[in-house]
Amino acid sequence: MAKPYDPKDRFFQKAKEQGFRARSAFKIEEILRRQKLLGKGGSVLDLGAAPGGFLQVLAEVVGPKGAAVGVDIVEIRALGKPWVRTAVLDLLAPDALDRIRELHPGRFDLVTSDMAPKTIGVKVTDEARSLELSRMALDVAGETLKLGGSFVVKVFMGGDFPIFQKEVRARFGKVDVVRPEATRERSFEVFVVGRLFRE
Ligand SMILES: C[S@@+](CC[C@H](N)C(=O)[O-])C[C@H]1O[C@@H](n2cnc3c(N)ncnc32)[C@H](O)[C@@H]1O
Repeated sequence: MAKPYDPKDRFFQKAKEQGFRARSAFKIEEILRRQKLLGKGGSVLDLGAAPGGFLQVLAEVVGPKGAAVGVDIVEIRALGKPWVRTAVLDLLAPDALDRIRELHPGRFDLVTSDMAPKTIGVKVTDEARSLELSRMALDVAGETLKLGGSFVVKVFMGGDFPIFQKEVRARFGKVDVVRPEATRERSFEVFVVGRLFRE
């Protein structure tokens, strides 16, 4: 039998103890532990970064010689690290890419997206909105990644998930689907990890 939903489960407690803003920090930590997608001095763009759990981990990995950029429709409280830049930005807005380039004119080693829409409880609508954000993240990755770079995107299984996976495969040499331990048992979310970006 599935465990009852517990908003303050062990990952919530662990995040609190370790000073992470969100339990999702453990998801990106696990993905990076399994696959070396980023290193010291690297550059990373995090889409849908608020409140900043992913960004805390990514900023630590790249260190002061690297660059970490986080964007979200809501404000991301400053991390207090000069190599981290953030902005309030709607990824679905026509000027999103220009705004990202203003923050970091170069290309990135890694683009991550944990974007999720506000759900309304209607499965098909929620899935479609979520996929729209995942596709937008793939487009942004296509425009901002270095050749050979990596991409990590949250996707909800169901609906057009297999089609989306094909779209990622068309742009990356190696693609895996990962479900980190910190993912809630009832959740349909997985992360698609693309490596070896080709134009
Ligand atoms: C699950 S939260 C991200 C948590 C984050 N990865 C962390 O570790 O703190 C999903 C985020 O996606 C953002 N989001 C949803 N739609 C967006 C859009 N159109 N443009 C930018 N961000 C968006 C939400 O505001 C929300 O902060």
